[in-house]
Amino acid sequence: MDTILVTGATGTLGSALIPALLTRGVAVRAMTRDPGRIIPGAETVVADLRDPDAVGAALKGVDAVFLNSPSASDAASLQIGFADLARDAGVNRLVLLSQYAARGDSPVRFLRWHAEVEAHVRSLGIEYTVLRPNLYLQALLAFSGTIEQGFLAAPIGDAAVSAIDTRDIADAAAAVLTGTGHAGRTYTLTGPRAVTHAQIAQALSEAMGRTVTFHDTSADQFAAALAGLLPPWQIDGLIEDYAHYARGEAAEVHMAVAELTGKPARDVTEFARDHFSAQ
Ligand SMILES: NC(=O)c1ccc[n+]([C@@H]2O[C@H](COP(=O)([O-])OP(=O)(O)OC[C@H]3O[C@@H](n4cnc5c(N)ncnc54)[C@H](OP(=O)(O)O)[C@@H]3O)[C@@H](O)[C@H]2O)c1
Repeated sequence: MDTILVTGATGTLGSALIPALLTRGVAVRAMTRDPGRIIPGAETVVADLRDPDAVGAALKGVDAVFLNSPSASDAASLQIGFADLARDAGVNRLVLLSQYAARGDSPVRFLRWHAEVEAHVRSLGIEYTVLRPNLYLQALLAFSGTIEQGFLAAPIGDAAVSAIDTRDIADAAAAVLTGTGHAGRTYTLTGPRAVTHAQIAQALSEAMGRTVTFHDTSADQFAAALAGLLPPWQIDGLIEDYAHYARGEAAEVHMAVAELTGKPARDVTEFARDHFSAQ
Protein backbone atom coordinates (compact mmCIF):
# COMPACT_ATOMS: atom_id res chain seq x y z
CA MET A 1 0.00 0.00 0.00
CA ASP A 2 1.24 3.53 -0.75
CA THR A 3 2.57 5.40 2.26
CA ILE A 4 1.83 9.07 3.04
CA LEU A 5 4.34 10.99 5.18
CA VAL A 6 2.78 13.69 7.35
CA THR A 7 5.08 16.40 8.72
CA GLY A 8 3.92 18.45 11.70
CA ALA A 9 2.01 15.30 12.67
CA THR A 10 1.61 16.29 16.33
CA GLY A 11 0.48 19.88 15.62
CA THR A 12 -2.93 21.53 15.47
CA LEU A 13 -3.59 20.37 11.93
CA GLY A 14 -1.49 17.19 11.81
CA SER A 15 -3.24 15.70 14.82
CA ALA A 16 -6.56 15.99 12.92
CA LEU A 17 -5.08 14.89 9.59
CA ILE A 18 -3.69 11.54 10.84
CA PRO A 19 -7.12 10.14 11.85
CA ALA A 20 -8.70 11.61 8.69
CA LEU A 21 -6.18 9.68 6.59
CA LEU A 22 -6.46 6.49 8.65
CA THR A 23 -10.24 6.55 8.17
CA ARG A 24 -9.58 6.45 4.43
CA GLY A 25 -7.56 3.27 4.88
CA VAL A 26 -4.13 4.54 3.82
CA ALA A 27 -0.76 3.80 5.42
CA VAL A 28 0.46 6.85 7.32
CA ARG A 29 3.99 7.68 8.45
CA ALA A 30 3.86 10.44 11.07
CA MET A 31 6.92 12.67 11.53
CA THR A 32 7.81 14.11 14.93
CA ARG A 33 11.01 15.22 16.68
CA ASP A 34 9.94 13.42 19.84
CA PRO A 35 11.31 9.86 20.03
CA GLY A 36 8.91 9.05 22.87
CA ARG A 37 5.81 9.94 20.91
CA ILE A 38 3.37 7.22 19.84
CA ILE A 39 0.78 8.18 17.24
CA PRO A 40 -1.99 5.57 17.22
CA GLY A 41 -2.55 3.82 13.91
CA ALA A 42 0.46 5.43 12.22
CA GLU A 43 4.09 4.44 11.76
CA THR A 44 6.03 7.05 13.73
CA VAL A 45 9.28 8.40 12.34
CA VAL A 46 11.61 10.73 14.25
CA ALA A 47 13.10 13.60 12.23
CA ASP A 48 13.78 17.31 12.53
CA LEU A 49 13.35 19.44 9.40
CA ARG A 50 16.79 20.85 10.22
CA ASP A 51 18.36 17.36 9.87
CA PRO A 52 18.51 16.39 6.17
CA ASP A 53 19.78 12.86 6.91
CA ALA A 54 16.88 12.10 9.22
CA VAL A 55 14.40 13.65 6.76
CA GLY A 56 15.91 11.62 3.91
CA ALA A 57 15.43 8.42 5.96
CA ALA A 58 11.84 9.43 6.81
CA LEU A 59 11.11 9.88 3.09
CA LYS A 60 12.29 6.40 2.05
CA GLY A 61 9.55 4.46 0.24
CA VAL A 62 7.01 7.25 0.58
CA ASP A 63 4.51 7.92 -2.22
CA ALA A 64 3.04 11.25 -1.06
CA VAL A 65 3.93 13.89 1.54
CA PHE A 66 2.00 16.53 3.45
CA LEU A 67 4.32 19.47 4.14
CA ASN A 68 3.31 21.53 7.17
CA SER A 69 6.17 23.33 8.83
CA PRO A 70 6.24 24.98 12.24
CA SER A 71 5.90 28.73 12.44
CA ALA A 72 9.65 29.47 12.59
CA SER A 73 11.74 32.39 11.40
CA ASP A 74 13.43 30.05 8.89
CA ALA A 75 10.18 28.30 7.90
CA ALA A 76 10.61 29.03 4.19
CA SER A 77 14.10 27.53 3.94
CA LEU A 78 13.07 24.53 6.08
CA GLN A 79 10.16 23.80 3.74
CA ILE A 80 12.19 24.38 0.57
CA GLY A 81 14.87 22.00 1.89
CA PHE A 82 12.24 19.37 2.65
CA ALA A 83 10.63 19.74 -0.79
CA ASP A 84 14.01 19.21 -2.49
CA LEU A 85 14.66 16.09 -0.40
CA ALA A 86 11.17 14.78 -1.28
CA ARG A 87 11.87 15.23 -4.99
CA ASP A 88 15.29 13.54 -4.60
CA ALA A 89 13.63 10.61 -2.79
CA GLY A 90 11.26 10.06 -5.71
CA VAL A 91 8.08 11.16 -3.93
CA ASN A 92 5.24 11.36 -6.45
CA ARG A 93 2.95 13.89 -4.79
CA LEU A 94 3.46 16.81 -2.44
CA VAL A 95 0.61 18.63 -0.72
CA LEU A 96 1.74 21.95 0.70
CA LEU A 97 0.09 23.74 3.61
CA SER A 98 0.31 27.45 2.79
CA GLN A 99 -1.96 30.29 3.93
CA TYR A 100 -4.89 32.36 2.60
CA ALA A 101 -3.66 35.28 0.46
CA ALA A 102 -0.03 34.08 0.23
CA ARG A 103 1.69 36.62 -2.01
CA GLY A 104 5.30 37.54 -2.70
CA ASP A 105 4.61 41.25 -2.21
CA SER A 106 2.40 40.93 0.88
CA PRO A 107 3.15 43.23 3.84
CA VAL A 108 2.63 40.12 6.02
CA ARG A 109 5.90 38.22 6.41
CA PHE A 110 4.18 34.82 6.84
CA LEU A 111 2.36 35.32 3.54
CA ARG A 112 5.61 36.24 1.76
CA TRP A 113 7.32 33.14 3.20
CA HIS A 114 4.45 30.89 2.13
CA ALA A 115 4.51 32.44 -1.38
CA GLU A 116 8.25 31.72 -1.65
CA VAL A 117 7.71 28.05 -0.77
CA GLU A 118 4.73 27.79 -3.15
CA ALA A 119 6.85 29.15 -6.03
CA HIS A 120 9.61 26.65 -5.24
CA VAL A 121 7.21 23.70 -5.05
CA ARG A 122 5.63 24.71 -8.39
CA SER A 123 9.08 24.63 -10.01
CA LEU A 124 10.12 21.21 -8.65
CA GLY A 125 8.64 19.08 -11.40
CA ILE A 126 6.69 16.76 -9.10
CA GLU A 127 2.91 16.59 -8.70
CA TYR A 128 1.81 19.18 -6.14
CA THR A 129 -1.30 20.73 -4.63
CA VAL A 130 -1.34 23.90 -2.51
CA LEU A 131 -3.80 24.41 0.35
CA ARG A 132 -4.28 27.98 1.54
CA PRO A 133 -6.34 27.97 4.75
CA ASN A 134 -7.51 31.15 6.41
CA LEU A 135 -7.10 31.91 10.14
CA TYR A 136 -7.56 28.76 12.21
CA LEU A 137 -10.50 28.85 14.64
CA GLN A 138 -8.31 26.59 16.79
CA ALA A 139 -5.88 29.54 17.10
CA LEU A 140 -8.49 30.88 19.56
CA LEU A 141 -7.46 28.11 21.96
CA ALA A 142 -4.29 30.12 22.64
CA PHE A 143 -6.60 32.80 24.11
CA SER A 144 -8.42 30.33 26.39
CA GLY A 145 -7.02 32.09 29.47
CA THR A 146 -8.70 35.43 28.76
CA ILE A 147 -11.78 33.75 27.27
CA GLU A 148 -12.24 31.98 30.62
CA GLN A 149 -11.97 35.43 32.24
CA GLY A 150 -14.74 36.69 29.95
CA PHE A 151 -12.99 38.51 27.13
CA LEU A 152 -11.37 38.02 23.73
CA ALA A 153 -8.91 40.77 22.74
CA ALA A 154 -7.33 41.39 19.33
CA PRO A 155 -6.42 44.35 17.07
CA ILE A 156 -9.06 43.61 14.45
CA GLY A 157 -11.95 46.05 14.99
CA ASP A 158 -15.18 44.99 13.32
CA ALA A 159 -13.51 43.28 10.36
CA ALA A 160 -14.83 39.85 9.44
CA VAL A 161 -12.59 36.85 8.69
CA SER A 162 -13.69 33.60 7.04
CA ALA A 163 -11.85 31.64 9.76
CA ILE A 164 -11.76 27.87 9.39
CA ASP A 165 -11.90 24.88 11.72
CA THR A 166 -8.68 22.83 11.38
CA ARG A 167 -10.78 19.64 11.24
CA ASP A 168 -12.05 20.87 7.87
CA ILE A 169 -8.53 21.61 6.65
CA ALA A 170 -7.57 18.08 7.71
CA ASP A 171 -10.55 16.53 5.88
CA ALA A 172 -9.77 18.58 2.75
CA ALA A 173 -6.07 17.62 2.92
CA ALA A 174 -6.98 13.94 3.34
CA ALA A 175 -9.24 14.15 0.28
CA VAL A 176 -6.46 15.72 -1.79
CA LEU A 177 -3.79 13.29 -0.56
CA THR A 178 -5.88 10.22 -1.34
CA GLY A 179 -7.88 11.42 -4.36
CA THR A 180 -7.21 12.30 -7.97
CA GLY A 181 -7.63 15.43 -10.07
CA HIS A 182 -5.83 17.81 -7.71
CA ALA A 183 -2.43 18.06 -9.45
CA GLY A 184 -1.29 21.65 -9.95
CA ARG A 185 -4.34 23.03 -8.11
CA THR A 186 -4.34 25.71 -5.39
CA TYR A 187 -7.31 25.59 -3.01
CA THR A 188 -8.24 28.47 -0.71
CA LEU A 189 -9.87 26.95 2.37
CA THR A 190 -12.26 29.00 4.49
CA GLY A 191 -15.10 28.63 6.92
CA PRO A 192 -18.71 28.84 5.67
CA ARG A 193 -19.03 32.58 6.46
CA ALA A 194 -16.89 35.53 7.49
CA VAL A 195 -17.25 36.36 11.18
CA THR A 196 -16.21 39.34 13.25
CA HIS A 197 -14.48 38.79 16.58
CA ALA A 198 -17.63 40.15 18.26
CA GLN A 199 -19.57 37.33 16.57
CA ILE A 200 -16.92 34.82 17.65
CA ALA A 201 -17.24 36.11 21.23
CA GLN A 202 -21.02 35.69 20.94
CA ALA A 203 -20.61 32.07 19.78
CA LEU A 204 -18.24 31.44 22.71
CA SER A 205 -20.73 33.04 25.12
CA GLU A 206 -23.52 30.76 23.90
CA ALA A 207 -21.33 27.65 24.17
CA MET A 208 -20.02 28.55 27.63
CA GLY A 209 -23.31 29.79 29.02
CA ARG A 210 -21.72 33.04 30.20
CA THR A 211 -20.72 36.31 28.61
CA VAL A 212 -17.50 36.65 26.62
CA THR A 213 -16.90 40.19 25.33
CA PHE A 214 -14.73 41.21 22.41
CA HIS A 215 -12.19 43.95 23.21
CA ASP A 216 -10.68 45.74 20.23
CA THR A 217 -7.07 46.51 21.19
CA SER A 218 -4.24 48.47 19.65
CA ALA A 219 -1.36 46.59 18.06
CA ASP A 220 0.86 47.82 20.92
CA GLN A 221 -1.49 46.42 23.58
CA PHE A 222 -1.64 43.11 21.70
CA ALA A 223 2.16 42.97 21.48
CA ALA A 224 2.49 43.79 25.18
CA ALA A 225 0.11 40.94 26.08
CA LEU A 226 2.20 38.48 24.05
CA ALA A 227 5.62 39.72 25.19
CA GLY A 228 7.57 36.92 26.82
CA LEU A 229 5.17 34.29 25.46
CA LEU A 230 6.42 34.43 21.86
CA PRO A 231 9.68 35.61 20.27
CA PRO A 232 9.64 39.21 18.98
CA TRP A 233 9.70 38.23 15.26
CA GLN A 234 6.59 36.10 15.79
CA ILE A 235 4.75 38.86 17.64
CA ASP A 236 5.62 41.29 14.81
CA GLY A 237 4.37 38.73 12.28
CA LEU A 238 1.10 38.24 14.17
CA ILE A 239 0.55 41.99 14.25
CA GLU A 240 1.03 42.06 10.47
CA ASP A 241 -1.45 39.15 10.19
CA TYR A 242 -4.05 41.02 12.29
CA ALA A 243 -3.55 44.27 10.35
CA HIS A 244 -4.29 42.26 7.19
CA TYR A 245 -7.46 40.84 8.81
CA ALA A 246 -8.46 44.32 10.07
CA ARG A 247 -8.20 45.70 6.53
CA GLY A 248 -10.91 43.21 5.56
CA GLU A 249 -8.54 41.26 3.31
CA ALA A 250 -9.40 37.81 4.69
CA ALA A 251 -13.20 37.83 4.42
CA GLU A 252 -13.87 35.96 1.18
CA VAL A 253 -15.73 32.68 1.50
CA HIS A 254 -14.61 29.83 -0.77
CA MET A 255 -16.43 26.55 -1.35
CA ALA A 256 -13.36 24.29 -1.65
CA VAL A 257 -13.94 22.49 1.67
CA ALA A 258 -17.43 21.39 0.63
CA GLU A 259 -16.25 20.51 -2.87
CA LEU A 260 -13.33 18.41 -1.60
CA THR A 261 -15.00 16.73 1.37
CA GLY A 262 -18.63 16.56 0.29
CA LYS A 263 -19.83 18.38 3.41
CA PRO A 264 -20.02 22.06 4.37
CA ALA A 265 -17.24 23.60 6.43
CA ARG A 266 -17.96 23.78 10.17
CA ASP A 267 -19.37 27.04 11.50
CA VAL A 268 -17.85 28.92 14.45
CA THR A 269 -20.87 27.86 16.54
CA GLU A 270 -19.87 24.20 16.10
CA PHE A 271 -16.23 25.01 16.93
CA ALA A 272 -17.32 26.87 20.07
CA ARG A 273 -19.66 24.06 21.14
CA ASP A 274 -16.95 21.41 20.67
CA HIS A 275 -14.14 23.32 22.41
CA PHE A 276 -15.75 25.68 24.92
CA SER A 277 -18.99 24.03 26.06
CA ALA A 278 -19.85 24.40 29.74
CA GLN A 279 -19.21 20.98 31.34
N1 LIG B 1 -2.51 29.38 12.98
C1 LIG B 1 -3.19 29.82 11.94
O1 LIG B 1 -4.23 30.49 12.05
C2 LIG B 1 -2.69 29.47 10.55
C3 LIG B 1 -3.47 29.82 9.43
C4 LIG B 1 -3.02 29.46 8.16
C5 LIG B 1 -1.80 28.80 8.01
N2 LIG B 1 -1.07 28.50 9.12
C6 LIG B 1 0.22 27.81 8.93
O2 LIG B 1 0.20 26.57 9.61
C7 LIG B 1 1.56 26.15 9.80
C8 LIG B 1 1.67 25.47 11.14
O3 LIG B 1 1.51 26.39 12.15
P1 LIG B 1 0.95 26.02 13.58
O4 LIG B 1 1.30 27.15 14.44
O5 LIG B 1 -0.47 25.56 13.48
O6 LIG B 1 1.87 24.81 14.02
P2 LIG B 1 1.47 23.32 14.37
O7 LIG B 1 1.21 22.58 13.09
O8 LIG B 1 0.44 23.27 15.44
O9 LIG B 1 2.79 22.77 15.08
C9 LIG B 1 4.00 22.65 14.46
C10 LIG B 1 4.37 21.19 14.22
O10 LIG B 1 5.65 21.23 13.66
C11 LIG B 1 6.48 20.28 14.31
N3 LIG B 1 7.82 20.89 14.37
C12 LIG B 1 8.22 21.97 15.07
N4 LIG B 1 9.52 22.23 14.81
C13 LIG B 1 9.93 21.28 13.92
C14 LIG B 1 11.16 21.01 13.27
N5 LIG B 1 12.26 21.76 13.47
N6 LIG B 1 11.23 19.95 12.44
C15 LIG B 1 10.14 19.15 12.23
N7 LIG B 1 8.95 19.37 12.80
C16 LIG B 1 8.85 20.42 13.64
C17 LIG B 1 5.90 20.00 15.68
O11 LIG B 1 6.03 18.62 15.94
P3 LIG B 1 6.99 17.92 17.05
O12 LIG B 1 7.14 18.88 18.18
O13 LIG B 1 6.24 16.67 17.40
O14 LIG B 1 8.26 17.64 16.31
C18 LIG B 1 4.39 20.31 15.45
O15 LIG B 1 3.72 19.11 15.10
C19 LIG B 1 2.43 27.39 9.59
O16 LIG B 1 3.07 27.31 8.35
C20 LIG B 1 1.40 28.53 9.57
O17 LIG B 1 1.82 29.63 8.79
C21 LIG B 1 -1.49 28.79 10.38
